[in-house]
Amino acid sequence: MMDKKYYITTPIYYPSGKFHVGHCYCTVVADSIARYKRLRGYDVFFMTGTDEHGQKIEKKAKESNKTPKQYVDEIVKDTKALWKDLNISYDKYIRTTDEEHVKCVQKIFQKLYNSGDIYKAEYEGLYCTPCESFWTESQLVNGKCPDCGRDVELVKEESYFFKLSKYQDKLLKFYDENLDFLEPISRKNELINSFFKSGLEDVCVSRTTIDWGIKVPFDSKHTVYVWIDALTNYISGLGYLSDDDSKMERFWPADVHLVGKEIFRFHAMIWPALLMALELPLPKKVFGHGWLVVDGNKISKSFGNYKDPRVYINATSVDALRYFLLHEVVLGQDGNFSEELFVEKSNSDLSNDLGNLVSRVTAMVEKYNNGIVQNDEVTENIDEDLKNVVKSMIPKVEELMDNLKVNDAISEIWKVISKANKYIDLAMPWILAKENKRERLNTVLYNLIETIRIVAISLQPYLVETPNKIFDYISVDKELTTWESSKEFGLIENGTKVRKGENLFPRIEYKEGIFDMQEENNVEIKKENIQDTKIEQVQEKGYITIDELDKVELKVGQIKEVARVEKADKLYKLSVDVGEKELRTIVSGLVPYYKEDELLNKQIVVVTNLKPAKLRGIMSNGMLLAAGDFDVVKLLTLDNNAGDLENGARIH
Ligand code: ME8
Ligand code: MG
Repeated sequence: MMDKKYYITTPIYYPSGKFHVGHCYCTVVADSIARYKRLRGYDVFFMTGTDEHGQKIEKKAKESNKTPKQYVDEIVKDTKALWKDLNISYDKYIRTTDEEHVKCVQKIFQKLYNSGDIYKAEYEGLYCTPCESFWTESQLVNGKCPDCGRDVELVKEESYFFKLSKYQDKLLKFYDENLDFLEPISRKNELINSFFKSGLEDVCVSRTTIDWGIKVPFDSKHTVYVWIDALTNYISGLGYLSDDDSKMERFWPADVHLVGKEIFRFHAMIWPALLMALELPLPKKVFGHGWLVVDGNKISKSFGNYKDPRVYINATSVDALRYFLLHEVVLGQDGNFSEELFVEKSNSDLSNDLGNLVSRVTAMVEKYNNGIVQNDEVTENIDEDLKNVVKSMIPKVEELMDNLKVNDAISEIWKVISKANKYIDLAMPWILAKENKRERLNTVLYNLIETIRIVAISLQPYLVETPNKIFDYISVDKELTTWESSKEFGLIENGTKVRKGENLFPRIEYKEGIFDMQEENNVEIKKENIQDTKIEQVQEKGYITIDELDKVELKVGQIKEVARVEKADKLYKLSVDVGEKELRTIVSGLVPYYKEDELLNKQIVVVTNLKPAKLRGIMSNGMLLAAGDFDVVKLLTLDNNAGDLENGARIH
């Protein structure tokens, strides 16, 4: 058997403040890919961590009266807690203050100095402190840092340099021969046009003005400057040049370095050149993702335009946040993080589509067959249709995930979820129950439970709580939760006991500032407390004034004619007398609940001033009031046996 292994990394983040959803984004995407690969049987090494040296950290620590190490230790602790809340399945958390990393960087520096790839010279350049980047005059935008728009300063000092220029042609050749190396392609083209055209310059790799960092082993006045220190984490974390380099042997070269677009060029040029100088193989891919923005601005530690991500998790669930990041942001592009959109998606895709599917189906199995799954194999054409959609989903998800199309893969799963919801509407289990078609009913429910099992398996890379909850509700054995088992429809055994669990995704009501209030109180706030605030909001929102009520015109109506609407399974066309000259035409989805003669002559409640709407080509003018949900629907009728209330009477 092929030895399947996979090494994926996120950047190592600066612990220079609290982390935000932008950091969660990259980490959650990498986590979903790592989980997917594990499900496919790969031996995965997933690494994330923190980039703890440099001037920026030094400054921040001073501001808060701490030593740099104290300062970063606290943030690292909090970051690890955040990753735990998000259920990030990293295999290693690397810190550049780790002794193993420090030693490795020093050895690398020495090695490159010995080989002549690093040399000493005088440096004069324009430097942006917050970005820790040097710029040439021509790269500045209006005299400012092209990345963050802030002032740059002229610095002059003795420095060590890495001979990047020497690798220019080799790099271009490598890009040409490895078309998958840099993605998305647009970023690669941009890079080649803007950097290679003018020729690569050697890069400064040490500073004498920074104290907080790794010392150059043979010249302790110098501190190793950010990019050699930071980039080499990807191999120091595997034990490169250490006593135990078995991980390096096993996992290098990396399969993918996932990085944000502003650090893409360092990973696309400096990093491969360093590896060439070390005579190591190059990673298979560097993928540059976009930014999460709010109101058009990048969410950023230095701008402070964000909230603690736990605010969103606490108010909804870890899966709601993961879903939003993975599905609503297209990998490679910028994505808008709007709180309102976040709530909307959580309600529509998770509560309505997925949550309702699971609760409806499990409730029906409980109600109609005491919770027992039983395939009686009384099939109809719609079954094949459903099965085909389910069966074609997994290969599509695999292909998309293998190409890092995470959001498209999730869309494929949602196609199945909506197909299953439609199948319920078509199969109408409640009618089957009413007409006592037990065997057909059981078959329909079996197909639905099996669909839910396969959906739950496919969701595992993305959602971390929901799949297990679903497996628990449908009590399937472990072997029916494996990726391989998702490829076959019909594995759940007859007699499996299903129960209706709690709602997977309670709806939440959006209100401006809903997440602010929680943060003020404290991020660590208990979920129960948040739900209290939510209920209060809902109640407040629930009141209407008498004037508002008056806008709704309710009248007594009587159904005079009933006809089926062609090609519509659920719709009747009703002619209703509401005391006007002509009968009103009202189209209503009552077929599953009432026979035609049960409706005839019923006196009912009609909303008469609802804006007319066309349904299946028929103008419907008004609405009937009814109560109930999917399996029970009852029309509101009048206590008017004596018949003394006329059609068209106003209801107050
Ligand atoms: O750059 N949306 O660290 P960093 C999406 N230490 N991603 C975002 C984001 C946002 N709003 N804000 C930040 C560094 N990121 C270096 C990396 S790697 C060898 C050294 C992403 O904390 C950003 O794009 O400034 C980058 O990939 C990562 O967070 C780390 O940013
Ligand atoms: Mg940054």
